[in-house]
Parts: sequence; structure tokens; C-alpha cells
Amino acid sequence: MQEIDSMAFEFETGLDFALKSDKNDVLNTYKNKFYFPQHNGKDAIYFCGNSLGLQPKTVEQSIQTELSTWREMAVGGYFKGTNPWLTYQDALRNSLGKIVGATENEITVMNALTVNLHLLMMSFYRPTKERFKIIMEAGAFPSDQYAVETLVKHFNLNPTDAIIEIAPKEGEKILHTNDIIQVIEDNKDSLAMVMFGGINYYTGQFFDLKTITQKAHEVGAIAGFDLAHVIGNIPLQLHDWDVDFAAWCSYKYLNAGPGAVAGAFIHNKHSSNINTPRLAGWWGNEEKERFKMEKGFIPKANASGWSLSTSPVFNTAALKASLVIFDEAGIDRLREKSEQLTAYLEFLLNQLANISFEIITPSDPLQRGTQLSLYFKERGKEIHTKMIESGIIVDFREPGVIRLAPAPLYCSFEDVFRFYEILKNNF
Ligand SMILES: Cc1ncc(COP(=O)(O)O)c(C=O)c1O
Repeated sequence: MQEIDSMAFEFETGLDFALKSDKNDVLNTYKNKFYFPQHNGKDAIYFCGNSLGLQPKTVEQSIQTELSTWREMAVGGYFKGTNPWLTYQDALRNSLGKIVGATENEITVMNALTVNLHLLMMSFYRPTKERFKIIMEAGAFPSDQYAVETLVKHFNLNPTDAIIEIAPKEGEKILHTNDIIQVIEDNKDSLAMVMFGGINYYTGQFFDLKTITQKAHEVGAIAGFDLAHVIGNIPLQLHDWDVDFAAWCSYKYLNAGPGAVAGAFIHNKHSSNINTPRLAGWWGNEEKERFKMEKGFIPKANASGWSLSTSPVFNTAALKASLVIFDEAGIDRLREKSEQLTAYLEFLLNQLANISFEIITPSDPLQRGTQLSLYFKERGKEIHTKMIESGIIVDFREPGVIRLAPAPLYCSFEDVFRFYEILKNNF
């Protein structure tokens, strides 16, 4: 993992500090590339990019281009459009590869997140009589829980026997890497797969994917991750860490809009092997074979060999536009700013004496991304409603957590300061 010197940040409580930090921020113009919801005629404070990212202003043109192609060429758009639809999604793999640390061949753009988790787990979960257990974090996102539960049932296994959930120690809110490693070790003879969230959606904890993967492999298990809250938030090295597979959605930090086309990583060692088991569809076929309409599936020898269906072009157009912004800004620079913004938010939150909450996200910057989760023993929902009424867009997750995610592409130090000032003066 990347080294972060948390002592390098020295913050102050005044507005001057925020304005000075924005002036020094090399990414400060990126805010202008996004549309903001309005509150009393001004941009709202938007700390909800962990749920749905803002709309890049370039998305409309990107969709318009494909509308024109459709209007003017109809089916010809597949082969002769400005961006031929036959391979439309392929152009996005390079940008995504830079974000997750993978080669183009290890990336595919398809479907939605839960669908992709199912597809990948179908490929990599090969239970035997001895080895059939799956380890996941307790309190994983419900869709992941349902996916794993129904997967093991599909193999006629009992979820109680087959699924091991790792919960924080009594009285704690986050997991320790050593404890995860220990559970893997304790189940070394029966473990088939570790399927963890990269960042837990509720606590905001970022797990040590490299160490978890190493340990899973040491005992002969597969390591897969749900990166919904990581992609576009924290740079990764999925290839070098030898992660087997990962899946993500594109509507959070990737800003590709509601229900945007999702993506997946399948390590080269698996994706280059056309015999790796999978559920197939014609879009995973070699292009030169695809239109022969013949019997017998011949997958592409890369992650696109998992694609099933005709690419959803309008939906993918938004992701295409958004990834141009990521290419320009660079995930490492975004992460650098994000560490500062989140640490600044944490610093200001710790100055507040008028409301009572606990920050349950790790204070260690290596164990978190942009998000801070505030746990309110009481009044959580009421405070959330008041935030919304004050023009602060954040979300609430039962029982009592408000999640704050100042995404570095479009949030400023001044936004964080204004947020603090509203809380200090009005709550
Ligand atoms: C961690 C995590 N996993 C899975 C999902 C479900 O994603 P989808 O509805 O795109 O399948 C979400 C949605 O927010 C999520 O946050």
C-alpha cells in the first residue's frame, strides 16, 4: 500500500485556510466540469459521491454523438459510427486499467455490479466436498450478501455452513487485517473463496486487498472483491497484487450516472485462458467468429470473454465522457487531494462541540478513502434531515450513520469549511 504521512497535514479552523488550500489545489478547476444540485440559488454542498456522483458537463455531448450516429446511420453505427458500437466499450478499458492497476486485457465493461458479481463468482467458486467456504465481511452490502447466499444455495449448500462472516471485535466498529488473516488461516482446509468489499459501504473502512489476497492464495483459495466504493476513490494495483477478480459500479466516484454500465477485472492468468469456466453470451465471442452464428462458444482470450450482451451504448457514453476527466486529473493526484480533504473534514468535525457523534471510519488514512461515516447514537435521522434542508447533500444509513464523502474532483476545501460552519452555527 501507498505510504501516507498523515503528520504532513496541518489544518486551521478559519475560512482563510480553506481559501488558501483551494488556491493551491492543482485540481481546483475540475469543479467547473460538473453540474451541481441547487439550494437557494447556490450550488449545494455535495458529499454524496459515494452514492451517486455528479453529472460531468461533457456527458450530454457524448450521448448526443451516439444519438446522431443512430439517427444518421441506424444499424451502420455498429461498424461505421464515430465510435463504432461493435467495440464501443473496449475504448474504456485503458482508462479503467489505470484506475485499478490492470492491463486492458484484464478489464471488461458490462452489465451492473451485482450481475457481474454473480457471473464472476460462478466462474471462480468451484466448491468441492472439502473446500466450499466463502469468507466475507459481516455487514457487507445487502446485494453482496444475497448474491453469496444464493450462490451457495445454487450448489445445494447451506449458507450457515458455507458462509463465514468476519465481524469486528466486541465494542469495535472496524476489522483488523490480522483478524481477517487469522480467519483465513483457521479455515485453510475448507476455504474456497474470499469475497470482500474493498471498502465497507457503512464504515468506510478500506481493507488491505493485497494482504488478504496473498493469504487467500497461501491456503489455496480465490480472492475476489466488490470495489463499488473503491473505484475512482483509491488507486489500486489489482494485477500486481494478484487479485483473481473484482467488480464495480460506475455511478459512484466514476460519475457515470444512475444505473451506469459496470465493470470487472479478471486477472490475466485466468482471463487469457479460454477454458476458465464462465457463463457466456455472444458479446464474449471473438468478433471475427461472432457473426458466423455458429455453434460452439469461442471466448476472447481476455476479460471481455465474460461479456454477454450487446453493449448498452447510451449508458456507456456517460462513462466514456467521465473517464476522459479521470485520464486528465489522474487517480494519484485525486487520491492525494482526497487524503487532504478528508483529513481536513475530520479535523473540523473534531472541533464541533454542539453535536454528538462518533467517526467510525478509521482515522488511519491508509484504511479509508474519501468517506467518513458518523455514527449518531441518537438524533441521526433528524440531523440528516436538517443537513438536507441546509443544502448539504449526504446520505443516511440505518441505524444512525451519516456518510460524508467530499469527492476530490468536484469538492473544495471551502465546501468542507462551509459544511463545518453550518453545523457549528445551526445545529
Ligand atoms: C458495496 C456495494 N455492492 C453492491 C451494490 C449494488 O450495486 P448494483 O445495484 O449496481 O448491482 C452497491 C450499491 O450501492 C454497493 O454499494
